[in-house]
Amino acid sequence: MTAIHAEGLRKSYGEKSVLDGIDLRIPEASVFALLGPNGAGKTTTVQILSTLIGADAGEARVGGYDVVRQADDVRRSIGVTGQFAAVDGLLTAEENLLLMADLHHLSRGEGRRRAADLLERFDLTQEAKKAASTFSGGMRRKLDLAMTLVGEPRIIFLDEPTTGLDPRSRRTVWELVRGLVEDLGITIFLTTQYLEEADQLADRIAVLHGGRIVAEGTAEELKRRIPGSHIRLRFADERRLDAAARVFEVAQRDPENLALQVPGDGTPATVRAVLDLLEAAAVEAESLTVHTPDLDDVFLALTETQKTATV
Ligand SMILES: Nc1ncnc2c1ncn2[C@@H]1O[C@H](COP(=O)(O)OP(=O)(O)OP(=O)(O)O)[C@@H](O)[C@H]1O
Ligand SMILES: [Mg+2]
Repeated sequence: MTAIHAEGLRKSYGEKSVLDGIDLRIPEASVFALLGPNGAGKTTTVQILSTLIGADAGEARVGGYDVVRQADDVRRSIGVTGQFAAVDGLLTAEENLLLMADLHHLSRGEGRRRAADLLERFDLTQEAKKAASTFSGGMRRKLDLAMTLVGEPRIIFLDEPTTGLDPRSRRTVWELVRGLVEDLGITIFLTTQYLEEADQLADRIAVLHGGRIVAEGTAEELKRRIPGSHIRLRFADERRLDAAARVFEVAQRDPENLALQVPGDGTPATVRAVLDLLEAAAVEAESLTVHTPDLDDVFLALTETQKTATV
């Protein structure tokens, strides 16, 4: 079943068009990452899908409900964790969760049971009685996520869930999010600026740029869309660079850095072939590095072409 389905979403603020026709189809129990630079419209998309603001045009269904005509049903099916945590620092972790249980009209017993379950799932049982103001950024994020889950949503929107967290805390949040999908079958709609996050977490990734989705697919599919890996050779001076450039005719010169980029994968056989050719031509390289494209390259390539196309 499709958890989130959108067609032709448009949104402008005054003269400024933010979303210029966005289509989405996100299967249940999967992680979808919406990737884009600052101001691309990620939060705007989340706001439309979570019924906080209306689109100017287009349609969206979330959890099977129309975001305009059945906004209450949508709200009952989703949880939203915003760019800024909703945790109340004066309350303890447990009190924050019980407050959410009250907001969802759960009975006292049911509220306590869910709070205890979530504290355990998020490894916060030790901190249950401590004021949230004493928590580190990572613990606050975990508590924020736990609070989102009190209402047992089927779909969760996470707007930049790990911005500002150190690599270890980021990894912890990733594991928790993965667990939600695998154990509970929850669908995750995630926005992020971290390509590694999308790579690690998402089943499918969409790149938002210039108001449109400029690419969509798995991390592997996206990586395959851009020029492949290469071997980078650096030389001590221009004379050696020129000599090497004559050996590798298809290579790309980077004279500023006295470097040469030879297309090819990083297998030992390829690396050996490159070194053999250099040796045969009696050219010595200062260094050799193998470069495999990552999502950063995809992202830069996609947002770059778009930019030059619009100038
Ligand atoms: N209420 C508003 N009024 C006017 N302009 C707005 C409003 N909300 C957002 N915008 C503009 O819409 C564009 C997209 O904003 P949005 O917050 O969706 O971007 P984002 O991709 O979430 O960026 P970030 O990575 O910085 O969070 C920006 O240019 C922003 O200035
Ligand atoms: Mg945002």
